[in-house]
Amino acid sequence: MKTLFFALTLVASTLTSTTFAQSLNQWLVQQEKASWQKLKANLSPEGTRAGVVIASPSREPDYIFHWVRDAALVMDVLMVESQINPNAELTQHIDQYIEFSRYIQDQPTLSDLGEPKYNVDGTGYTGPWGRPQNDGPALRALFLVRYLKHLISQGTPLTSLAKLYKAEMPARSLIKRDLEYTAHQWTEANFDLWEEVKGSHFYTLLAQRQALLEGAELARLFKDEGAAAFYAFQAVLIENRLAKFVENNHFVTTRDRVDGLGYKYSNLDTSILLAFLHVGENAAYRITDSRLARTIELLAEAFNRVYPLNQRGLSAVALGRYPEDQYYGGNPWILTTLAVAEYHYRMARLTGDRGHLTSGDNYMERVRFHSRIDGAMAEQWDRYTGFQVSADELTWSHAAFITAMRERRAVHKLFGL
Ligand code: NOJ
Ligand code: NOJ
Repeated sequence: MKTLFFALTLVASTLTSTTFAQSLNQWLVQQEKASWQKLKANLSPEGTRAGVVIASPSREPDYIFHWVRDAALVMDVLMVESQINPNAELTQHIDQYIEFSRYIQDQPTLSDLGEPKYNVDGTGYTGPWGRPQNDGPALRALFLVRYLKHLISQGTPLTSLAKLYKAEMPARSLIKRDLEYTAHQWTEANFDLWEEVKGSHFYTLLAQRQALLEGAELARLFKDEGAAAFYAFQAVLIENRLAKFVENNHFVTTRDRVDGLGYKYSNLDTSILLAFLHVGENAAYRITDSRLARTIELLAEAFNRVYPLNQRGLSAVALGRYPEDQYYGGNPWILTTLAVAEYHYRMARLTGDRGHLTSGDNYMERVRFHSRIDGAMAEQWDRYTGFQVSADELTWSHAAFITAMRERRAVHKLFGL
């Protein structure tokens, strides 16, 4: 009897050590591999036009569409990776995305270039939807401007890039069309990145401002001086507008709502943080901004109250889109929680404060806690059980994991770890 008991304990402890004693580092590396593989599986999958980025292979909810926003964010992840490790497969995906984007810009849509999503054959989606969403063309332009500058720095002659940028009006080149649209439309009410509220949004404005600023530099390279001045001037006007999104030393989400959901009373939203992460470092909106830190603090407090899973165990709070969210019951999201990890890693890198590295790792522990053995990542975690819910294998969730890991690696390098 005693021997049997001993044997069982041994089996149990062996199981425990192989299943649970994996270090955070080991898990992160394993998940990162899975995330790359799963992200790539959503690029031009079978039955779609080359260059499509499906948001998820899920049919319920149906996410088998090309969202302009999601796709631009994913391409940025591919570009940075291909600059670190030159990789023909990734470059091919980017080239196909560029061709696809040129194709969809020519499609008739219900809201011009502000059309948020396209069918996988490249035609515009025509069902009822929150449209336009003007962060889309801005994010696409921002990615493309950076990609073009990279090509130029590699010695590609400007004359061979006319499909991407050409100083002509009316604009026919991919980037200039998006920049013209952005420069002329930014004052218009449009739907937010969550596709729910029509108004003027911090996230969208910050993306538009950055696209126009970097777009102005590109225009100058192409001797498109008038356009450069115009884009730069609009960027200044946007900055003035953004100054109205500050309250009690934190940022708010939407101003001048004209339509869509009306129950987002707190006006607090993780999209504020996403805006900072997605546009990158710039002089006016730094990741070290105390108003951003305060916004994140308020979000964490709110999500700590509304999600029962936060009341158990782990120190890092799972965050959702905004506290009043009701989509799929209103749950924490994987990509928004990963965004806070990425924030802390960036803070550690910029300030040299190791406390932020620990905080970042705590958020990664939270992600690991709700992870699946096969590395699958859906859109959300059920607010009670922590199980993954809504669209499975969300491309954006995997992209958010990869960008958080990139920052973590940069901090480790900085600290010599
Ligand atoms: C679908 C959108 O994609 C999602 O963001 C939104 O929350 C729901 N519709 C409800 O409006
Ligand atoms: C719903 C999200 O709210 C929106 O931001 C996203 O673009 C789509 N799902 C597709 O992932």
